[in-house]
Amino acid sequence: MRNTSSDNLTALTQSSFDQLPDQRLQFILKTFVAHLHDFARDTKLTHEEWRAGLHFLHQAAAITDESRSEFSLMSDVFGLSSLIDLLAMGSEKATPGSNLGPFHSRGSPVMQSPANLLRNNPGQAAIFRGKVLDLKGKPIAGATVDFWQNADNGLYWQQDPEQPQDNLRCMLHAQEDGSFEIATIRPKPYTIPMDGPVGAMFVQSKRSPWRPAHLHLIVEAPGHRTLVTEIFDEEDPYLDTDAVFGVREVLVAQYKPVVDPELLKRYKDHDHLLEVKLDLVLE
Ligand SMILES: [Fe+2]
Repeated sequence: MRNTSSDNLTALTQSSFDQLPDQRLQFILKTFVAHLHDFARDTKLTHEEWRAGLHFLHQAAAITDESRSEFSLMSDVFGLSSLIDLLAMGSEKATPGSNLGPFHSRGSPVMQSPANLLRNNPGQAAIFRGKVLDLKGKPIAGATVDFWQNADNGLYWQQDPEQPQDNLRCMLHAQEDGSFEIATIRPKPYTIPMDGPVGAMFVQSKRSPWRPAHLHLIVEAPGHRTLVTEIFDEEDPYLDTDAVFGVREVLVAQYKPVVDPELLKRYKDHDHLLEVKLDLVLE
């Protein structure tokens, strides 16, 4: 095409993907081009603004490494991660998904339920328990529960050389009745990483960088959709202003004093023990 104009440029760019054999990928790229061009048209994007956008991406690339993805964070704070979680939902009876976050890694220590992660962690001891169920309410024995959370100082073990390796994370299998139990601490709210371009954008926009305290989970079982979700603390002050839009009403749970004598006996070394209960329903 010798005569590229603002009228034919979008169609031209789209047709450059015509030979792509993967039809789904071809559709995604063509739609991306349409929206990208419409974005520039709708905003009447100037050269300076376009260069500023590229500079933002360059800065994001510069601070990204194996343990830190500024691009995942961008996806989170622009609401894209949450939107994809919400679009993936089928049945309303299933536990909704929420953000994976940047601190999950494979290879969590495998433990038996009840798993005790308390070790010498400072903070409020709390028992997290529930059942893994299917949509009909039947227990899913053997479902894998991959669990991780932050310590009392708000940091995940990867961020904090003072914490032992794999602190406050484990992988276990639900028991015959679908139940699981993890002795842990009440998690703490924390801010998204503020030392990169996303942090600078938050400062400029006067946005709250806080995430409400949460437990992280990935629940998997053969024949069921994998659930990636978070469980929030009902008393957290940041529930309504989560920087990454991860909170859903049914994922908010109450930390209550333990009254079950069996639990009190099992964790007798801990005063003012709390428990938080939530069943996890897989599609
Ligand atoms: Fe988190």
